[in-house]
Amino acid sequence: MKKWFYTLATLLIVGGLAVACSEDRNNIRRGNTDTEEVVPGTNHNILIAYFSEPLPDGVDASTSASRVIVDGDLYGSVEYVATVIRETTGGDMVRIQTAQPYPGNFDDLAEQADNERQNGILPELATEIADFEDYDVVFVGYPIWWYQMPMAIYSFFDKFDCNGKTLIPFSTHGGSGWSGTLEDISELVPDATMVNGLSISRNSTATSRSGILDWLREIGMIE
Ligand SMILES: Cc1cc2nc3c(=O)[nH]c(=O)nc-3n(C[C@H](O)[C@H](O)[C@H](O)COP(=O)(O)O)c2cc1C
Repeated sequence: MKKWFYTLATLLIVGGLAVACSEDRNNIRRGNTDTEEVVPGTNHNILIAYFSEPLPDGVDASTSASRVIVDGDLYGSVEYVATVIRETTGGDMVRIQTAQPYPGNFDDLAEQADNERQNGILPELATEIADFEDYDVVFVGYPIWWYQMPMAIYSFFDKFDCNGKTLIPFSTHGGSGWSGTLEDISELVPDATMVNGLSISRNSTATSRSGILDWLREIGMIE
Protein backbone atom coordinates (compact mmCIF):
# COMPACT_ATOMS: atom_id res chain seq x y z
CA MET A 1 0.00 0.00 0.00
CA LYS A 2 2.72 2.43 0.97
CA LYS A 3 4.72 1.81 -2.18
CA TRP A 4 2.09 3.12 -4.60
CA PHE A 5 1.28 5.97 -2.26
CA TYR A 6 4.89 7.16 -2.34
CA THR A 7 4.94 6.62 -6.11
CA LEU A 8 1.82 8.76 -6.48
CA ALA A 9 3.25 11.41 -4.14
CA THR A 10 6.50 11.54 -6.11
CA LEU A 11 4.66 11.80 -9.41
CA LEU A 12 2.48 14.57 -8.04
CA ILE A 13 5.52 16.55 -6.90
CA VAL A 14 7.25 16.09 -10.25
CA GLY A 15 4.03 16.93 -12.07
CA GLY A 16 3.68 20.07 -9.96
CA LEU A 17 7.16 21.22 -10.92
CA ALA A 18 6.45 20.50 -14.57
CA VAL A 19 3.33 22.64 -14.74
CA ALA A 20 4.56 25.42 -12.49
CA CYS A 21 6.07 27.39 -15.36
CA SER A 22 2.83 27.57 -17.31
CA GLU A 23 0.64 28.73 -14.45
CA ASP A 24 0.07 32.39 -13.69
CA ARG A 25 0.65 33.96 -10.30
CA ASN A 26 -2.57 32.44 -8.95
CA ASN A 27 -1.59 29.01 -10.27
CA ILE A 28 -4.59 29.24 -12.54
CA ARG A 29 -4.44 27.69 -15.98
CA ARG A 30 -6.85 28.27 -18.78
CA GLY A 31 -8.20 25.52 -20.95
CA ASN A 32 -6.07 24.41 -23.85
CA THR A 33 -6.24 25.95 -27.28
CA ASP A 34 -8.25 23.10 -28.74
CA THR A 35 -11.35 24.41 -27.04
CA GLU A 36 -13.58 26.77 -28.96
CA GLU A 37 -13.69 30.44 -28.09
CA VAL A 38 -17.42 30.61 -27.58
CA VAL A 39 -18.87 33.45 -25.58
CA PRO A 40 -22.09 32.21 -24.09
CA GLY A 41 -23.57 35.67 -23.54
CA THR A 42 -26.56 36.14 -21.25
CA ASN A 43 -30.00 34.72 -20.51
CA HIS A 44 -28.81 31.17 -20.22
CA ASN A 45 -30.15 28.43 -18.03
CA ILE A 46 -27.03 27.52 -16.09
CA LEU A 47 -26.21 24.37 -14.15
CA ILE A 48 -23.07 23.93 -12.05
CA ALA A 49 -22.45 20.21 -11.52
CA TYR A 50 -19.41 19.30 -9.46
CA PHE A 51 -17.73 16.31 -7.86
CA SER A 52 -15.67 16.93 -4.73
CA GLU A 53 -14.32 14.46 -2.18
CA PRO A 54 -12.30 16.47 0.31
CA LEU A 55 -9.79 14.26 2.06
CA PRO A 56 -11.60 13.14 5.19
CA ASP A 57 -8.46 12.62 7.24
CA GLY A 58 -7.36 16.23 7.24
CA VAL A 59 -6.95 16.77 10.95
CA ASP A 60 -5.78 20.31 10.47
CA ALA A 61 -8.22 21.46 7.84
CA SER A 62 -6.34 24.66 7.14
CA THR A 63 -3.30 22.73 5.91
CA SER A 64 -5.01 19.63 4.57
CA ALA A 65 -4.22 19.19 0.90
CA SER A 66 -7.82 18.86 -0.10
CA ARG A 67 -9.81 21.27 2.01
CA VAL A 68 -10.02 25.01 1.92
CA ILE A 69 -11.30 27.41 4.53
CA VAL A 70 -12.66 30.72 3.33
CA ASP A 71 -14.28 33.15 5.75
CA GLY A 72 -14.45 30.38 8.34
CA ASP A 73 -16.32 27.96 6.05
CA LEU A 74 -14.83 24.59 5.12
CA TYR A 75 -15.02 23.38 1.49
CA GLY A 76 -13.54 20.77 -0.80
CA SER A 77 -11.43 22.56 -3.41
CA VAL A 78 -13.78 21.87 -6.31
CA GLU A 79 -16.76 22.64 -4.08
CA TYR A 80 -15.32 26.07 -3.32
CA VAL A 81 -14.84 26.92 -7.00
CA ALA A 82 -18.38 25.71 -7.72
CA THR A 83 -19.73 27.90 -4.92
CA VAL A 84 -18.06 31.01 -6.35
CA ILE A 85 -19.45 30.20 -9.81
CA ARG A 86 -22.93 29.76 -8.39
CA GLU A 87 -22.82 32.99 -6.39
CA THR A 88 -21.69 35.03 -9.35
CA THR A 89 -23.62 33.47 -12.23
CA GLY A 90 -26.82 32.66 -10.34
CA GLY A 91 -26.90 29.14 -11.79
CA ASP A 92 -28.31 26.07 -10.10
CA MET A 93 -25.72 23.92 -8.34
CA VAL A 94 -25.72 20.16 -7.88
CA ARG A 95 -23.17 17.90 -6.25
CA ILE A 96 -22.37 14.74 -8.23
CA GLN A 97 -22.61 11.92 -5.69
CA THR A 98 -22.16 8.20 -6.03
CA ALA A 99 -24.77 5.75 -4.73
CA GLN A 100 -22.05 4.11 -2.62
CA PRO A 101 -20.11 6.77 -0.73
CA TYR A 102 -16.35 6.64 -1.15
CA PRO A 103 -14.16 5.35 1.72
CA GLY A 104 -13.40 7.71 4.55
CA ASN A 105 -9.62 7.64 4.42
CA PHE A 106 -7.11 8.52 1.74
CA ASP A 107 -5.48 5.11 1.25
CA ASP A 108 -8.78 3.29 0.68
CA LEU A 109 -10.17 6.13 -1.43
CA ALA A 110 -7.07 6.16 -3.63
CA GLU A 111 -7.14 2.39 -4.02
CA GLN A 112 -10.82 2.33 -4.98
CA ALA A 113 -10.40 5.22 -7.40
CA ASP A 114 -7.45 3.46 -9.01
CA ASN A 115 -9.40 0.21 -9.29
CA GLU A 116 -12.32 2.00 -10.95
CA ARG A 117 -9.95 3.74 -13.35
CA GLN A 118 -7.98 0.63 -14.28
CA ASN A 119 -11.11 -1.43 -14.86
CA GLY A 120 -13.29 1.24 -16.45
CA ILE A 121 -15.89 0.97 -13.69
CA LEU A 122 -18.57 3.65 -13.83
CA PRO A 123 -19.93 4.05 -10.28
CA GLU A 124 -23.68 4.39 -10.04
CA LEU A 125 -24.77 7.92 -9.24
CA ALA A 126 -27.26 8.91 -6.56
CA THR A 127 -27.56 12.32 -8.17
CA GLU A 128 -30.80 13.20 -9.93
CA ILE A 129 -31.25 16.47 -11.82
CA ALA A 130 -34.75 17.68 -12.48
CA ASP A 131 -35.39 19.04 -15.98
CA PHE A 132 -31.77 18.53 -17.04
CA GLU A 133 -32.75 19.06 -20.66
CA ASP A 134 -33.68 22.67 -19.85
CA TYR A 135 -30.09 23.66 -19.03
CA ASP A 136 -28.15 24.99 -21.98
CA VAL A 137 -24.92 25.86 -20.14
CA VAL A 138 -23.36 23.25 -17.88
CA PHE A 139 -20.29 23.92 -15.75
CA VAL A 140 -18.68 20.59 -14.84
CA GLY A 141 -16.19 20.54 -11.96
CA TYR A 142 -13.90 17.74 -10.83
CA PRO A 143 -10.59 17.03 -9.08
CA ILE A 144 -7.85 15.21 -10.94
CA TRP A 145 -7.65 11.64 -9.67
CA TRP A 146 -4.89 9.40 -10.88
CA TYR A 147 -4.11 11.77 -13.79
CA GLN A 148 -7.64 11.79 -15.13
CA MET A 149 -11.25 12.64 -14.20
CA PRO A 150 -12.78 10.58 -11.38
CA MET A 151 -14.88 7.79 -12.88
CA ALA A 152 -17.96 9.45 -11.34
CA ILE A 153 -17.56 12.17 -13.99
CA TYR A 154 -17.67 9.49 -16.67
CA SER A 155 -20.87 8.28 -14.97
CA PHE A 156 -22.18 11.84 -15.07
CA PHE A 157 -21.68 12.16 -18.82
CA ASP A 158 -23.16 8.69 -19.27
CA LYS A 159 -26.29 9.51 -17.26
CA PHE A 160 -26.81 13.12 -18.34
CA ASP A 161 -26.51 13.75 -22.05
CA CYS A 162 -24.58 16.99 -22.54
CA ASN A 163 -24.46 16.82 -26.33
CA GLY A 164 -25.84 20.02 -27.79
CA LYS A 165 -25.10 21.96 -24.61
CA THR A 166 -22.36 24.47 -23.83
CA LEU A 167 -19.89 22.78 -21.48
CA ILE A 168 -17.54 24.73 -19.23
CA PRO A 169 -15.05 22.54 -17.32
CA PHE A 170 -13.28 23.52 -14.12
CA SER A 171 -10.88 21.47 -12.07
CA THR A 172 -8.52 21.42 -9.12
CA HIS A 173 -5.39 19.34 -8.83
CA GLY A 174 -2.27 18.62 -6.83
CA GLY A 175 0.20 19.31 -9.62
CA SER A 176 -1.04 17.54 -12.75
CA GLY A 177 -2.97 20.46 -14.28
CA TRP A 178 -5.69 19.43 -16.74
CA SER A 179 -3.93 16.12 -17.32
CA GLY A 180 -5.62 15.55 -20.68
CA THR A 181 -9.13 15.75 -19.24
CA LEU A 182 -10.37 18.40 -21.70
CA GLU A 183 -9.63 16.04 -24.55
CA ASP A 184 -11.36 13.24 -22.64
CA ILE A 185 -14.50 15.35 -22.24
CA SER A 186 -14.47 16.24 -25.94
CA GLU A 187 -14.35 12.55 -26.77
CA LEU A 188 -17.13 11.68 -24.34
CA VAL A 189 -19.39 14.51 -25.48
CA PRO A 190 -18.43 15.24 -29.07
CA ASP A 191 -21.44 17.41 -29.84
CA ALA A 192 -21.09 19.77 -26.90
CA THR A 193 -19.63 23.23 -27.38
CA MET A 194 -16.57 23.44 -25.14
CA VAL A 195 -15.72 26.79 -23.58
CA ASN A 196 -12.28 27.50 -22.15
CA GLY A 197 -12.21 26.08 -18.66
CA LEU A 198 -10.33 26.83 -15.46
CA SER A 199 -7.82 24.60 -13.67
CA ILE A 200 -6.52 25.60 -10.25
CA SER A 201 -3.87 24.13 -7.99
CA ARG A 202 -5.43 23.00 -4.72
CA ASN A 203 -2.79 25.05 -2.92
CA SER A 204 -4.18 28.24 -4.45
CA THR A 205 -7.89 27.48 -4.27
CA ALA A 206 -8.56 29.42 -1.07
CA THR A 207 -7.21 32.60 -2.68
CA SER A 208 -8.61 32.01 -6.15
CA ARG A 209 -11.84 34.01 -5.98
CA SER A 210 -10.63 37.01 -8.00
CA GLY A 211 -9.04 34.70 -10.58
CA ILE A 212 -12.32 32.80 -10.92
CA LEU A 213 -14.17 36.08 -11.48
CA ASP A 214 -11.60 37.17 -14.10
CA TRP A 215 -12.14 33.90 -15.95
CA LEU A 216 -15.94 34.18 -15.78
CA ARG A 217 -15.67 37.69 -17.25
CA GLU A 218 -13.33 36.48 -19.99
CA ILE A 219 -15.77 33.82 -21.13
CA GLY A 220 -18.71 36.21 -20.93
CA MET A 221 -20.57 34.57 -18.07
CA ILE A 222 -20.53 37.66 -15.83
CA GLU A 223 -20.05 41.37 -16.52
C1 LIG B 1 -7.60 9.42 -5.07
C2 LIG B 1 -6.91 10.69 -5.42
C3 LIG B 1 -6.06 10.74 -6.52
C4 LIG B 1 -5.44 11.92 -6.87
N1 LIG B 1 -4.65 11.95 -7.98
C5 LIG B 1 -4.11 13.14 -8.37
C6 LIG B 1 -3.36 13.22 -9.58
O1 LIG B 1 -3.16 12.24 -10.29
N2 LIG B 1 -2.83 14.43 -9.92
C7 LIG B 1 -3.02 15.55 -9.16
O2 LIG B 1 -2.55 16.59 -9.53
N3 LIG B 1 -3.74 15.49 -8.02
C8 LIG B 1 -4.29 14.33 -7.62
N4 LIG B 1 -5.04 14.28 -6.48
C9 LIG B 1 -5.24 15.52 -5.70
C10 LIG B 1 -6.60 16.18 -6.02
O3 LIG B 1 -6.76 16.41 -7.41
C11 LIG B 1 -6.69 17.53 -5.30
O4 LIG B 1 -6.44 17.37 -3.94
C12 LIG B 1 -8.04 18.19 -5.53
O5 LIG B 1 -7.94 19.56 -5.19
C13 LIG B 1 -9.14 17.56 -4.69
O6 LIG B 1 -10.34 18.27 -4.85
P1 LIG B 1 -11.56 18.08 -3.82
O7 LIG B 1 -11.04 18.45 -2.46
O8 LIG B 1 -12.63 19.02 -4.26
O9 LIG B 1 -11.99 16.66 -3.92
C14 LIG B 1 -5.64 13.10 -6.09
C15 LIG B 1 -6.48 13.03 -4.97
C16 LIG B 1 -7.10 11.85 -4.64
C17 LIG B 1 -8.02 11.81 -3.44
